[in-house]
Amino acid sequence: MSGTTSAPRGLDGVVAAQTKLSHVDGQNGVLIIGGYSIEELAGKVTFEQAAHLLWKGKLPTPEEHKALSAEIAALRALPEAAMAVVREAAGKKAPPIDTLRMACATLSLDLERPNDISPEADFANAKMLVARFPTIVAAHTRLIQGQEPIAPRTDLSLAANFLYMVFGKEPDPIAARALDTYWVTVIDHGMNASTFAGRVIASTRSDAVSAITGAIGALKGPLHGGAPGPVLDMLLDIKTTDNADPWVRNELAAGRRIMGFGHRVYKVRDPRAEVLSKVAEEMSGAVLHDRKLFELAREVEKTVLRVLDEVKPGRNLKTNVEFYTALVLQSLGLQPATFVSLFACGRAAGWCAHVIEQHAEDHLIRPQSEYVGPRGLTVSS
Ligand code: ACO
Repeated sequence: MSGTTSAPRGLDGVVAAQTKLSHVDGQNGVLIIGGYSIEELAGKVTFEQAAHLLWKGKLPTPEEHKALSAEIAALRALPEAAMAVVREAAGKKAPPIDTLRMACATLSLDLERPNDISPEADFANAKMLVARFPTIVAAHTRLIQGQEPIAPRTDLSLAANFLYMVFGKEPDPIAARALDTYWVTVIDHGMNASTFAGRVIASTRSDAVSAITGAIGALKGPLHGGAPGPVLDMLLDIKTTDNADPWVRNELAAGRRIMGFGHRVYKVRDPRAEVLSKVAEEMSGAVLHDRKLFELAREVEKTVLRVLDEVKPGRNLKTNVEFYTALVLQSLGLQPATFVSLFACGRAAGWCAHVIEQHAEDHLIRPQSEYVGPRGLTVSS
């Protein structure tokens, strides 16, 4: 191809943008969010604080934190059109992530200037999207179970309010903190597929709601955000530690992948797996008072790593974020079908930050393709 450079398949290793938002060092297992390592942030800042870090470039002062939390809380209720889509989708048994994508697309309807891509409009949209995603997921969860949605409260944190809207009672503070920590842990992650999709859309000077709707579509697939549901299925299927080795070998022999393992960038253990394994352990001890599933997961993790190393040597397939995500979300009493949409609730803050950054960059992302089809064909009359 003249005047062009061929990139590797899947753009593997290609740097597609400069960002101040996050950095993934896959060789050393390091994740930096806005200057802080993930271990420094997770469990120490709230999701609202982490969102401020990404949207405004610094952690908020206590006053800014209070103001941002209150603004987000005031935006939680769904407009009629969004709720109508959620009801329709639940009636048709649409998966939660598809429901989120469809309802998200309606959220530009009540914006005064839906095509405004100024920094002020992007910031306002970021708050609105992050506020409403958990309401969409909670309403869908209840409707699918034949229950009416519960209106959001403004006096709870985003995470505590989500659990309140699902279960109808204020959650255990440890459970609310677990979900909050999960959302901080997945808030942003370099140029992952959904973020890239969102940035491509924003790069056309399209608006935040359009970009985030597209990002949800990219997150849905099992190679990206759709793995934790199958991780839980795997653990439930394995049942006991003795079964782990034959189960994993059988899956690999059948040409299937083990969910929750392997990563395009991390060649060592995903640092988010460590953070979330601690959250899962705390939940199993302090809230569930039942460590069985957690202990099983620990043993299964060891077995999968050993077998992958043996059957797929040199591929460096290690535990990724999804493995312990499954345990954390399951320990909160949430259904596996909702897991990917809960991932979207956290990642939405990062996506919005990338939209803000991409709009400031204002440069169209438009690679080329290498044509490998036939040429010179003629149409017979
Ligand atoms: N189980 C078994 N084998 C695997 C796995 C796995 N989980 N992951 C990769 N491999 C194998 C592939 O079969 C391939 O083997 P081969 O060399 O014999 O053909 C080799 O490792 C390389 O695989 P690629 O597909 O080239 O690796 P890639 O970097 O594209 O894949 C991915 C990364 C998609 C995450 C992959 O590891 C995977 O499918 N994992 C399971 C799904 C999962 O956990 N997804 C969540 C990812 S985390 C996130 O996005 C939030």
